[in-house]
Amino acid sequence: MSAWRHPAAIADASISFEFVKETALKAEAGKLDFLFVADGLYINEKSIPHFLNRFEPLTVLSALASVTTNLGLVGTLSTSYSEPFTVARQFASLDHLSKGRAGWNVVTSPLEGSAKNFSREKHPEHALRYRIADEYLDVVKGLWDSWEEDAFIRDKASGQFFDPNKLHTLDHRGDFFQVAGPLNISRTPQGRPIVFQAGASDDGKKLAAHHADAIFTHHETLEEAQHFYRDVKGQLKNHGRKDDDLKIFQGVSVIVGKDADDVENQYQTTAALVSINDALNYLGRYFEHHDFSQYPLDEPFPDIGDLGQNSFRSTTDEIKRNAQTRNLTLRQVALEAASPRPRFSGTAQQVADGLQQWFESYGADGFIIQGGTPDTFPRFVDEVVPVLQARGLFRKEYPGTTLRESLGLANPVNQFS
Ligand SMILES: Cc1cc2nc3c(=O)[nH]c(=O)nc-3n(C[C@H](O)[C@H](O)[C@H](O)COP(=O)(O)O)c2cc1C
Repeated sequence: MSAWRHPAAIADASISFEFVKETALKAEAGKLDFLFVADGLYINEKSIPHFLNRFEPLTVLSALASVTTNLGLVGTLSTSYSEPFTVARQFASLDHLSKGRAGWNVVTSPLEGSAKNFSREKHPEHALRYRIADEYLDVVKGLWDSWEEDAFIRDKASGQFFDPNKLHTLDHRGDFFQVAGPLNISRTPQGRPIVFQAGASDDGKKLAAHHADAIFTHHETLEEAQHFYRDVKGQLKNHGRKDDDLKIFQGVSVIVGKDADDVENQYQTTAALVSINDALNYLGRYFEHHDFSQYPLDEPFPDIGDLGQNSFRSTTDEIKRNAQTRNLTLRQVALEAASPRPRFSGTAQQVADGLQQWFESYGADGFIIQGGTPDTFPRFVDEVVPVLQARGLFRKEYPGTTLRESLGLANPVNQFS
């Protein structure tokens, strides 16, 4: 929220290709799986500052494709405000450009205001958004199977460019989409790009179990993470899938310090930058930019009814539940939301201990390191990754060149062949 004010922060980082490139190269030096670009489709004057001025994910990932070689490139794109043919083509192009490193974070868009930017009268409601997303993914996957791997013969002597038996036309007719196909780009290096999903409601989990290769989620406690992990993995068999077909990534913030005082200092320096007004705005965004400044700050979190159900449902449910069970005031809820204490903090060994515990006790298959100051991520790579490597928990070399290989996911079979 206010991290841009940190003395060491690069205040225009969200629009600086140099910064993004440096981060990507650092991630690659640490042999990490991927770089993840979040996104949104609506802003107003209360939005998080770096949301006001940032790159469109596919554009910046395409630029990164040419300066990296092993790092997966994952970007967010909404199924509620785009067309499957265009999106299938864009991610297939990124997969070709990067030689097999593209990933798509499928979201249904939480913010109602998005409708106003896409000539729509109304933001589709939560359940409808997920029905659209489910059919959308059927269409995109069908389009990605338009061509078999060896469909393009390009035989100059005979003049045959492609083998018609290896071309498959989708002819999809559904409730929301009518898409003939085929797609005008060949099967991609990964067979198809990796599909991430980032919603945690019941409908979100169902969508992930049906379609996703990976999930980006967030849980505060190991118990909640384990519950989510078991729940989603348990649903895979409903779709003829195995536990290993879907990787669950917990989004976590970290602070690496030389001792407890250093960690506390780092946290307080960042927390001190967040004014209560910023915190109320940050909290409000999850609830359709609700104006929380109208309530007394030091009384129990106000009863706001169903607000949030049609936006960040899983997150707003969690905020309300947490406020109630811990009997928190509005001030506490807002400050905790805007400057949460990092889930894993301490020395490099202590941070590694925490990650190891979550990983070994089935809270996560992996982690997405998010937020922090400009120091946080480089320190994670320089100090925590070597500890994880020494413990045999993390790779020292990439297993191949594609994101699918890094994640240990099997090659998809073409549904038509
Ligand atoms: C960890 C996490 C990351 C998310 N990242 C994005 C994002 O980058 N862009 C976006 O529009 N929505 C994002 N979302 C919102 C979801 O896509 C979804 O619209 C919202 O959470 C409501 O769905 P749910 O109730 O199923 O969670 C994210 C949600 C979670 C839980």
